[in-house]
Amino acid sequence: MPPRSDASPPAPRTPAVNTAIPPEQAIAAYQERIEAVLDRALDPAAAPDARLIEAMRYATLSGGKRLRPLLVYATGEALDAPGTALDAAAAAVEMIHVYSLIHDDLPAMDDDELRRGRPTCHRAFDEATAILAGDALQAQAFVTLSTGASALPAPRAPAMLQELALASGLHGMAGGQAIDLGASGHQLGLEALEHMHRLKTGALIRASVRLGGLAGGADEALLARLTDYAGCIGLAFQIRDDILDVEGDPETLGKACGADARLEKSTFPALMGLEPSRERAVALVDQALEALQPLGAEADLLRHLARYIVDRIH
Ligand code: IPE
Ligand code: IPE
Ligand code: MG
Ligand code: MG
Ligand code: MG
Repeated sequence: MPPRSDASPPAPRTPAVNTAIPPEQAIAAYQERIEAVLDRALDPAAAPDARLIEAMRYATLSGGKRLRPLLVYATGEALDAPGTALDAAAAAVEMIHVYSLIHDDLPAMDDDELRRGRPTCHRAFDEATAILAGDALQAQAFVTLSTGASALPAPRAPAMLQELALASGLHGMAGGQAIDLGASGHQLGLEALEHMHRLKTGALIRASVRLGGLAGGADEALLARLTDYAGCIGLAFQIRDDILDVEGDPETLGKACGADARLEKSTFPALMGLEPSRERAVALVDQALEALQPLGAEADLLRHLARYIVDRIH
């Protein structure tokens, strides 16, 4: 790995998972770890309202691939970042993601009934509770991140907070979701479609990688490479999501298929057809791998995750 941007004090190593472990095993270990971190962060005993925390836990502790936390861990691990900061960043980005899913499924947005193989949050509870669960998860993400990153050397914690805030709001996920809603009923052209995908889905994926990089004190050159990698896989991820909406199996996906066509969403398959969409996603993953080319075996988990994004069936 290239050098870090500051002289960090000796930090505790990220425990248990290292490059000697096969990727599938590393992924399973990190998935187990993020589950426990999220469980602790959403403590029902400390909550002022039982129904709200129940809804937050229902939506969060419900499976999911945990791709964003995996990217935080995989990047941070390559830089030997402190485990506490990685746990906080991984939990924070997943909380923002889950909040985005809860709101995405609301009747005012995609109006979906199934998420991660279970009734959506507003179906299991009610719309008002689902809106508040999303709001509270968003706020909790920043509480968790600021607490867990506070022991990092000086510029890292504020940089991480800003990273996640930018990726979540107007210039990231929320902005992309607004473009998505505005584009229903008419197909966007390629450039506008890519822009929308890079915001609504790509921004959080990019932030996940950069949070791991920032926690580990990556220098500008390395951060730029990681950002290139993340930009490519973020777009590929949403293209694959669009493809799975056409040809996936709802049982495996844990969510409905055909929803994009029903809502006349702007998607890659709608614009260019399935095969060219697949080719575009594969080309993006090749480009992502190219960005990691100068890095050694410490980036193998990132390489594995990039390939997984286009091969996945859920
Ligand atoms: C679904 O994200 C929504 C998109 C941004 C495409 P994921 O496919 O990562 O959903 P989970 O977290 O695994 O349920
Ligand atoms: C959602 O995109 C992106 C988010 C910010 C949640 P989709 O609307 O395509 O996600 P799914 O298919 O419902 O998971
Ligand atoms: Mg949507
Ligand atoms: Mg949706
Ligand atoms: Mg979709």
